[in-house]
Amino acid sequence: MKQAIHPSKHTVIFMMGVSGVGKSTIGALLAKQLEVPFFDGDDYHSKANISKMSKGAPLTDLDRHDWLHALNALATQQLKTNSCIIACSALKESYRTILETAIEASTKWIFLHGTFQQIKERLQHRNHHFMTSDLLQSQFDTLEIPQNALQIDIHLSPKEMVTEIQKSLPIKTQFGLIGLGVMGKSLSRNLAQKGVRISMYNRHVTEVEEDIAINFKKEFKELASALPFDVLPDFVKSLETPRKIMLMVNSGSAIDAVIENLLPFLSQGDSIIDGGNSNYNKTKERFDFLKSKGIHFIGVGVSGGEEGALKGPSIMPGGDIKAYQQVQPFLELIAAKDKNGAPCCSYIGNEGSGHFVKMIHNGIEYVEMQLLADVCTVLKAKGNTSDQIADIFEQWKPTTNSYLLEITSTILRKKEGDDWLVNKIMDTAGNKGTGNWATIATAELGVPSTLIASALFARYTSFYKAERVAASKQFNSENITVPKISIEDLHNAYQFARIINHYQGFKLIQEASEHFKWALNLSELARIWTNGCIIRSDYMIELVTTFKTTNNLFAHKNTIQALKTRKSAIKKVVSECVLIELPIPSLSNAIHFFNNITTANSSANLIQAQRDYFGAHTYQRKEDDTGQFYHTDWKLNEPEKPTAHGNTSN
Ligand code: 6PG
Repeated sequence: MKQAIHPSKHTVIFMMGVSGVGKSTIGALLAKQLEVPFFDGDDYHSKANISKMSKGAPLTDLDRHDWLHALNALATQQLKTNSCIIACSALKESYRTILETAIEASTKWIFLHGTFQQIKERLQHRNHHFMTSDLLQSQFDTLEIPQNALQIDIHLSPKEMVTEIQKSLPIKTQFGLIGLGVMGKSLSRNLAQKGVRISMYNRHVTEVEEDIAINFKKEFKELASALPFDVLPDFVKSLETPRKIMLMVNSGSAIDAVIENLLPFLSQGDSIIDGGNSNYNKTKERFDFLKSKGIHFIGVGVSGGEEGALKGPSIMPGGDIKAYQQVQPFLELIAAKDKNGAPCCSYIGNEGSGHFVKMIHNGIEYVEMQLLADVCTVLKAKGNTSDQIADIFEQWKPTTNSYLLEITSTILRKKEGDDWLVNKIMDTAGNKGTGNWATIATAELGVPSTLIASALFARYTSFYKAERVAASKQFNSENITVPKISIEDLHNAYQFARIINHYQGFKLIQEASEHFKWALNLSELARIWTNGCIIRSDYMIELVTTFKTTNNLFAHKNTIQALKTRKSAIKKVVSECVLIELPIPSLSNAIHFFNNITTANSSANLIQAQRDYFGAHTYQRKEDDTGQFYHTDWKLNEPEKPTAHGNTSN
């Protein structure tokens, strides 16, 4: 859908001039270009006026009075919701005063003019028009040349006239982007390619970041109508109100610095959209702070990396729903599309919910990445080369495809010289913080998202490279055998662990939704993760339907069946890897968590007893469902009745 190039927000353009000059033709053409409504003032004459003019009698000021007020009322009404163009002769200054009553600031005059002869010839070739050429002279006699109008000579072609008019319009842009890094540039190009007129800003830092926006504009033809800035107030002024400004800057203090610099230039009702990987708690703080200033703050998770941002990311907006609705057309326009063509962009919930679910997206992503790394560890130990592992992954695609499986296959095939590039990369995995925040969130919410923590700590462990090398010399067994693991068992183990990963990830989101009262929709969330984002997969497509029937994956028959059939495989794989000392942190955590969560009577009773022994933290009894807590003086050796304690949780 081509976005309209609108004049500055809600402007009425009066196309004026004597009859036959082409007001209606040019007005309609301009309206089509700007995608705004067009109204022909002649349609608003009374029957008496039309009858009078058709008999060749000129209209008096009195005849015109009601007509002019009717057009002013039309313009005023239109301005409430949109810009518009009205063709009207408006020959006298007094007529124009009536037409722009109470809307002067939103009115623009375009005066089409030509010679008497030019126009007479035109009129003589126009039929079915109630104005005869004999009246033309009285029109010219009545005409008072407007002082504040753009004058357009009708010797130009209609297209040239429209172009000239457009150049003069204070065309404001529809959407602003701040921060032209990798993601900011991709999103800018995506918006521009969809016909959105954007303003782009990048700070000026002498000898570090100079002319970033202007040079970026020159690189891509789709940015031809984009406006580049490195002066913030000019950037803000270029935007139509209410403004929509998307920040694509590093999370943390940079966001607050940009907000502080923006605030003096913003108007009530403007929206700031944070498209970075910001912490959801900070997003809530910024949401509340800006709300007190009358500014909307929308925390938007954007997933898909550089390519996704350009071709269509998955977009997770959270905040005030009315504010979201103002930016919704733009975000949906640039988002990836699901298999039914619907945008992978959907309002998530209030406050920081958008950034929260993006954080958990990244947590699930960490695990998916670690599971692939664990699988590669086993396949490598079985003697497969990178190419051979990629071949195996190709065989898994029909039943287990995902974006991460695809890119991992590509990565494994990349050679440098006669070795594979991946073998030359230092094995210390970095992170920008989202997996860390996800693990903190799971601990704060008391939800056992053990896989996210296992994947995060696997990265942290990898960073102790020197310590690992030293320890390997001390502790690694000599006679490490080749793992007795079949490809089929490994594939089933991988699929089993992926189910556990998605179970934990969505469980954490559901718990947060209840805790923060966000009322999140898991099926809709899975839908916007079926394309554009890093964790898109065939399994995610399946979850869209699954979450329509339950929020608990473990209660769904397909999941139960899938886990049951694959459980023996992962037990074999993990047991074998433990025996031959192969590190598979996330694969192994999956089965350990599963064994834990499927144990009806666990060892936690002993934990309670220990806590009560040294801390008198009390415990509940299996046979007592009243919620009563008990304490025992464990040091006394004769049997005694435990003393009941208040119904307080310890
Ligand atoms: C995405 C990615 C993106 C980014 C991560 C990388 O959804 O597009 O997750 O957000 O690549 O920040 O995270 P780490 O640097 O923590 O691995």
